[in-house]
Amino acid sequence: MKKISLTGLQPTGIITLGNYIGAIKQMVGFQNDYDSYIFIADMHAITINQDPITLRKNIRSLVALYIACGIDPEKNTIYIQSDNPYVANISWLLECNTYYGELSRMTQFKEKSKKNANFTSGLLTYPVLMAADILSMHADIVPVGIDQKQHVELARDIAIRFNKKYKEIFTIPEPIINSDITKITDLQNPTKKMSKSSENQKGVISLLEDLDVIRKKIMSATTDSEMNIKYDPENKPGISNLINIYSSLSFKSREEVEQEFKNSNYGEFKKCVADIVIETVKNIQEKYNEILNSDYLNEILDKGSKKNIEISKKVYETMKDCIGIGRSNKTLD
Ligand code: TYM
Repeated sequence: MKKISLTGLQPTGIITLGNYIGAIKQMVGFQNDYDSYIFIADMHAITINQDPITLRKNIRSLVALYIACGIDPEKNTIYIQSDNPYVANISWLLECNTYYGELSRMTQFKEKSKKNANFTSGLLTYPVLMAADILSMHADIVPVGIDQKQHVELARDIAIRFNKKYKEIFTIPEPIINSDITKITDLQNPTKKMSKSSENQKGVISLLEDLDVIRKKIMSATTDSEMNIKYDPENKPGISNLINIYSSLSFKSREEVEQEFKNSNYGEFKKCVADIVIETVKNIQEKYNEILNSDYLNEILDKGSKKNIEISKKVYETMKDCIGIGRSNKTLD
């Protein structure tokens, strides 16, 4: 039997080149080897304020974008998190087995709560909902960007704790980080992650962005005052980020990229990075426009949700039996 791979993406705003390289591209690589689940984490999105009309639009758009990026609906189960009523219930049962201290120590929580003093409690419990996503589907591996690794590790801790306390019901998930790339950084501020929530969007590339704008953004990416195209993230974060982007999209190693551009100047290198990004994004956009308003998309989501609900309903019932809540008289030994 194939192992299970699972990952989610929030339908908030744009999907960046960072999401593509950090998560989606990796999933495309995994879809032949794993029983693969991919979902839209719309309940995670509402941990911060969202405009309902935009959110609704983004959910469908993201599914179309996944498929346009090469996620094959025949090989993956694709679904929307909120279609499943069991996941929030499972999350609650897990919350009652998670310590406040664990949640308040999460890096993402600390960073996001600092930004807005009026943060919701959902921002704190966010990683438990993630654990529910992962554990309810028996995921063996969870491909994520480095920023989500800590949350997957917490899901592991919660699973181990629950299994010990009650019964071995959860698979212990493992985060899979694309270690060759780790993270794609902001083109203007290359020591920071390329983030859809960044204040200055000049350093962020959206997969649905105008191609000329993408070229301009890459051509004006921050580099350094040297002239050599060398991978050195500490001293040359801008060039190293461009090497990562090029390396990932061309399927070449960093050393091959350094070799290929050893006689080029920064302008020439940036032009090649822009060309390969644009070629990739153009293909994605063409497919996206074909799929977005098709019935095919609804069929994929109906099929995905059905499977997701079936599996997690069983987990929920078993958890209730373990914990001793509900009507069932079943005791588990
Ligand atoms: P989200 O929507 O912030 O990001 C989706 C995925 O993209 C990765 N990522 C990046 N990787 C490399 N470089 C970047 N600049 C970059 N930006 C984002 C993220 O690490 C992530 O893998 N909480 C999750 C969604 C989620 C989830 C889950 C994931 C909900 N439940 C269960 C896995 C399993 C999130 O907000 O991802």
